[in-house]
Amino acid sequence: MDLFSSIDTEPARRRMEELSERIDQLNYEYYMNDRSLVSDQEFDTLLRELQELERQYPELASPLSPTKRVGGEVNKSFRQVEHRFPMLSLGNTYSIEEIEEFEARTRRLLDGEEFSYTCELKYDGVAIGLSYRHGRLVQAVTRGNGTLGDDITLNAKTIPTVPLHLRGDYPDDFEARGEVVFPFDAFNAFNAQREAEGDEPFANPRNAASGSLKLQDSAECAKRKLMFCMYFMMAPDGIALPGTHYGRLDYARQMGFKVQPYIQECKDITEIKAFIDHWDHARWELPFGTDGIVIKVNQTALWDRLGLTAKSPRWAIAYKFKAERVSTPLLSIDYQVGRTGKVTPVANLAAVHLGGTTVRRATLVNADFIESFDIHEGDHLFIEKGGEIIPKVVGVDLERRPDGAPPVRYIDRCPECGTPLVRIDGEAAHYCPNADGCHPQIVGRLEHFVSRRAMNIETLGPERLELLYTAGLVRNVADIYDLRRDQLIGLGDDATIQDKSADNLLAAVETSKNVPFERMLFALGIRYVGEVGAKKLARYFKDMDHLLAAGEEELSQVEDVGGVTAKAVHEWFAHPDHRTIVDRLRAAGLQMQVSLQQGDNTLDGLTFVVSGVFEHFSRDEIKADIERHGGKVSGSISGKTSYLLAGDKMGPEKRKKAEKLGVKILSEADYLQMTTP
Ligand code: IVH
Repeated sequence: MDLFSSIDTEPARRRMEELSERIDQLNYEYYMNDRSLVSDQEFDTLLRELQELERQYPELASPLSPTKRVGGEVNKSFRQVEHRFPMLSLGNTYSIEEIEEFEARTRRLLDGEEFSYTCELKYDGVAIGLSYRHGRLVQAVTRGNGTLGDDITLNAKTIPTVPLHLRGDYPDDFEARGEVVFPFDAFNAFNAQREAEGDEPFANPRNAASGSLKLQDSAECAKRKLMFCMYFMMAPDGIALPGTHYGRLDYARQMGFKVQPYIQECKDITEIKAFIDHWDHARWELPFGTDGIVIKVNQTALWDRLGLTAKSPRWAIAYKFKAERVSTPLLSIDYQVGRTGKVTPVANLAAVHLGGTTVRRATLVNADFIESFDIHEGDHLFIEKGGEIIPKVVGVDLERRPDGAPPVRYIDRCPECGTPLVRIDGEAAHYCPNADGCHPQIVGRLEHFVSRRAMNIETLGPERLELLYTAGLVRNVADIYDLRRDQLIGLGDDATIQDKSADNLLAAVETSKNVPFERMLFALGIRYVGEVGAKKLARYFKDMDHLLAAGEEELSQVEDVGGVTAKAVHEWFAHPDHRTIVDRLRAAGLQMQVSLQQGDNTLDGLTFVVSGVFEHFSRDEIKADIERHGGKVSGSISGKTSYLLAGDKMGPEKRKKAEKLGVKILSEADYLQMTTP
């Protein structure tokens, strides 16, 4: 007898429902009302219980379960979908006169009608549309070109302020539109972490929000703590909505949407201008970015009467805030040398207040930048802060140039080691070529090598590395593996490294020897080789020997490795000192080949059907690889199949069946993404 079929799943189903409701409610209180009803630990316990039940009873798991907030599913690709209602943009202006004209024109067109306006913030983020049927989120789509957008449902579900189920009364079929913003606190923390890990920081919260929505790994999107600000609602004919925009937003708030409170009904231009004036200053106090004010006719029945222009409605307009600009004296220029030897000039400025913060420094980018503005010593520089967080130098205040001030002369020697700087063809930056003798380059490379995404040697932070460098113990990454206990103990100003910390440090170094080959390649810090490039190189060449033997042409065959990267990789490995480093790392026991042996449980609970021909694996190899990662392989597609792993030349029948049953189709590249740590 099949024991399992007799087990009643009803209690599990009921418990799962109960947990989902409770977690949804706690999330709602936390994100909408800023109220924590339970401790983080209690919350995690509930969430974990639900996750465990969903693992045991996948057939009972709801696609709108609060566990989806944590992410985990991989976006194969972002399907393009057509907007049901085109996503129009707004006419916009920087001029108050044009707002006056808009108001006068609207009044004229509405000829004696009683009406009002709503003024609200223009959120500086990424526009998305959320479709709800019967109170449940069914799809999230980016604006795209207004007609076609990308389906980003999986990632949108991870945003806590995107309701998965609606509360109370709601229209059965409608679309909620709004902006996904990256609140400043979350954005700053995220960028700081990126920098600590040696990644380029994002220029502003908007770009970062946009990049986050297009992440393949929804769990990564979940970590970013994005926020959805709802600002518009539309429904098909026959579905009634409140008759004012203000009323619609209020209604949306009751359904569980985050509608910012900074909205005001204004009866005339005076009130509109007062709202604009207020937010032009007060915007710097907000926890997220805003780049203007949106003014809409409040009575929705009047929208049709006012109609549309070519691409925007006549019943709304956006006033954009002018970037705040100040001028302040240039005191001096620092030249910073990064781990690749790249030199960045940074202006030290007389402290000045701008957009809610005090600015003391701003990048001067490179020599061309300084030359194009013809910056002279002691000049007053114009600094702007628009929607960006980082202040920008946008010009020189020529009227305040000191008499006889000479133009800034760019340095020709490295400020750290005195080596003459070079400029690489096609690049605007200057570089210090003394890679192996220039302090910030050496320490920068070491920092990159030990960073979390590379070898993850947490106990070796920047201060420790500096200490080891100064003590002459570590000059290159291979030296890390020669460190001995007796050399470490007593190091530091007040002998900070003692027995225990020396042991911890050496243990972390030892553990790092198991870091997969591709991450070790990334850790070497070869110019232009980021995480993805390193992965692709590792998967292509499989081991260090093949990589070392590869010529430039072969290197450039690798997907995503262009000519410039191929040249840089080839040159790096051709350097005798680098060969020695690689030999020493090999002797120390670091991973020098891609590991097909290592198992983990990334694919736990998932069932795959494999079909077609693959580039990096034979059919048997890929099946074995799935099992090594804890997944199951099955011969035919059914409702229980999690993924169809599709290689080249897969039969059309399999695809059809998968599509019919709603089984997700994965490419080999998707699979590699999923299984590569
Ligand atoms: S209303 C048909 N309200 O600004 C009117 N838009 O071109 C639909 N935006 O891409 C837009 N904050 O994403 C509206 N409070 C707000 C907004 C807002 C930001 C964005 C919107 C659109 C752009 C206007």
